[in-house]
Amino acid sequence: MKERIDPKKVPKRTLPSGEKIPCIGMGTFGSDRFTPEQVSGAVAGAIEAGYRLFDCASVYQNERLIGDVFNSAFKAGTVRREDLFIMSKVWNDSHGEGDVLLSLAKTLKDLRLEYVDAYFVHWPFPNYHAPGCDGDSRNPDSKPFSVSRFIATWRQMERLHKAGLARHVGFSNMTVPKLEAALPQCEIRPSLIEMEMHPCFQQADLFDYCLVENIQPIGFCPIGSPTRPDRDKAEGDVSVFEVPEVVEIAKAHGVHPAVVCIKWAAQRGQIPIPFSIYENEYASNLRCVTEDPLTKKEMKAMKNAERNNRLIKGQVFLWEGAAGWEDLWDLNGEITK
Ligand SMILES: NC(=O)c1ccc[n+]([C@@H]2O[C@H](COP(=O)([O-])OP(=O)(O)OC[C@H]3O[C@@H](n4cnc5c(N)ncnc54)[C@H](OP(=O)(O)O)[C@@H]3O)[C@@H](O)[C@H]2O)c1
Repeated sequence: MKERIDPKKVPKRTLPSGEKIPCIGMGTFGSDRFTPEQVSGAVAGAIEAGYRLFDCASVYQNERLIGDVFNSAFKAGTVRREDLFIMSKVWNDSHGEGDVLLSLAKTLKDLRLEYVDAYFVHWPFPNYHAPGCDGDSRNPDSKPFSVSRFIATWRQMERLHKAGLARHVGFSNMTVPKLEAALPQCEIRPSLIEMEMHPCFQQADLFDYCLVENIQPIGFCPIGSPTRPDRDKAEGDVSVFEVPEVVEIAKAHGVHPAVVCIKWAAQRGQIPIPFSIYENEYASNLRCVTEDPLTKKEMKAMKNAERNNRLIKGQVFLWEGAAGWEDLWDLNGEITK
């Protein structure tokens, strides 16, 4: 018998507009490992299990099949369109004038929707790499971040919002210095920001900055993305499943360490978007936010799980002359040029 979690029991967060959004969603990046059929099958199962928030992207190359799943669910009456919060992202090859609109048009066609609930700029550079490329791959046309170029892309996002095609717009893979440069120039501010966040990479400064700026953080790779592509695996990366702080709390609650990561994320205030194609995993990820919360003491102990271990380093987006992946993340507090 398949597990069902009542969506009403899933806590909600409030967006700057006052709108409520579930405190957990489902990711749909197959990490070049899982087929579109497997991922869309999981989305179908997740809707039935009670998920109402889905994180999609054109570059995941599975929006067409996921669109069929949404459409079947609406037709069957499993869920109404207005009960789902569906997000997607414009890929780095579509930042040019007019391209953002074309990209969203394709996404809407594939997802079989009239609007998305949130549309993100996936990366703040127009630096393209082909899906499935290896970690050493570089594009000679790649460029460092430029606020004027970014804002030109953002103006197109704002137009899509005004046209009612994207109910919210958001950033992804930003840093505090980039936000400081971009936010004052936004006519429409981002409601949401996607960023890597898990117990071993808590991004406290960026997280706090978002809260102060009234932007809702969304945490990707919330359980340390054990199935991430090989290009995103590096020596020295830590497995959140083996960190003593996480393991100990998991034992105390009688759950998998993955579940501790999700509880921690939801209680801290970011919206985790874990991925899994397995029903037992995605159902337990959703159920865990409705029961048996971590104690205050455990939440405090989880701060010590921080290892400053960024997993998605993004080196494939580096430009000629860049020293290393750190240049993407403005580690010295200034935008790296
Ligand atoms: N904005 C961006 O640039 C960006 C970047 C990366 C990801 N994302 C989004 O974030 C989503 C999540 O990130 P992610 O998929 O990389 O990482 P993740 O959610 O941290 O990890 C996914 C993996 O964790 C395992 N897992 C999930 N639930 C589990 C459970 N209850 N117990 C044990 N293992 C469990 C599964 O591995 P097994 O299959 O081995 O069980 C699954 O493949 C993506 O799907 C995507 O939507 C966005």
